[in-house]
Amino acid sequence: MKIGIFGTGMAGKTLAEKLFALEYDVMIGTRDIAKTLYNADGDIYGGPPFKTWIRERPDIKLGTFADAAIHGELLINAVSGTGTIPALKKAGKSNLRGKVLIDISNPLDFSKGMPPPLFVSNTDSLGEQIQQEFPKVKVVKTLNTMNAYLMANPGLVPGDHNVFLCGNDEDAKAVVKKMLKKFGWKEKLMIDLGDISGARSTEQMLPVWLRLWGKLQHPMFNFNVVVGRPL
Ligand SMILES: NC(=O)c1ccc[n+]([C@@H]2O[C@H](COP(=O)([O-])OP(=O)(O)OC[C@H]3O[C@@H](n4cnc5c(N)ncnc54)[C@H](OP(=O)(O)O)[C@@H]3O)[C@@H](O)[C@H]2O)c1
Repeated sequence: MKIGIFGTGMAGKTLAEKLFALEYDVMIGTRDIAKTLYNADGDIYGGPPFKTWIRERPDIKLGTFADAAIHGELLINAVSGTGTIPALKKAGKSNLRGKVLIDISNPLDFSKGMPPPLFVSNTDSLGEQIQQEFPKVKVVKTLNTMNAYLMANPGLVPGDHNVFLCGNDEDAKAVVKKMLKKFGWKEKLMIDLGDISGARSTEQMLPVWLRLWGKLQHPMFNFNVVVGRPL
């Protein structure tokens, strides 16, 4: 199966590597291929620059956002929150139409430093804004509440912990659940929060996640919902 991933950051790279290992045909999309292959900045966790990373993985393809959208039968949005709608517009409405789009982005506004506030919340979410802007795309919001390494390898944190998902299309969610299983997520630990408005809740977990990151001084943790018996 062909996968198009929008985003050359740590999340895009981590998911691309995992999907390639699972024998998917992966293309990563970026704004400007030449610029991305010239940039010498490493990632936030001390990883190598993208150009070094992709050179060491010649079977993972690199294209524009539009190339990745055309390539992918299934698509993943791993673009920064503020870049998400512009990136999907560059990908092209017609190239996205009818496809499942796994949205792992968070609406974080880094323009005034740390900690970043959410630029949309409460009565709306980035997941919903994507769905509204691209009504023919089947948006499934998931994996945004954890570090990228954990998305692709839940065993990095011991014990039970959850992955949330939501979206308007039940078949699309079933496709995404299958992929999550391949990543190593147990079905019983996947929590389906209903339609895409569930993205309000998972995106609003980010302020808690960021605070915990500061407190724990590392990102290898996750949320675990412990369910008791009803009264
Ligand atoms: N990193 C994590 O552990 C993690 C965990 C959970 C969720 N997420 C979410 O995943 C997304 C990606 O995170 P990340 O850390 O991998 O990288 P990031 O630095 O947040 O995003 C990098 C990507 O965003 C694109 N981008 C930035 N501004 C843009 C703009 N104005 N227009 C179009 N594209 C733009 C970049 O394009 P170019 O390739 O052209 O530079 C690049 O591909 C974010 O929404 C983040 O909240 C990340």
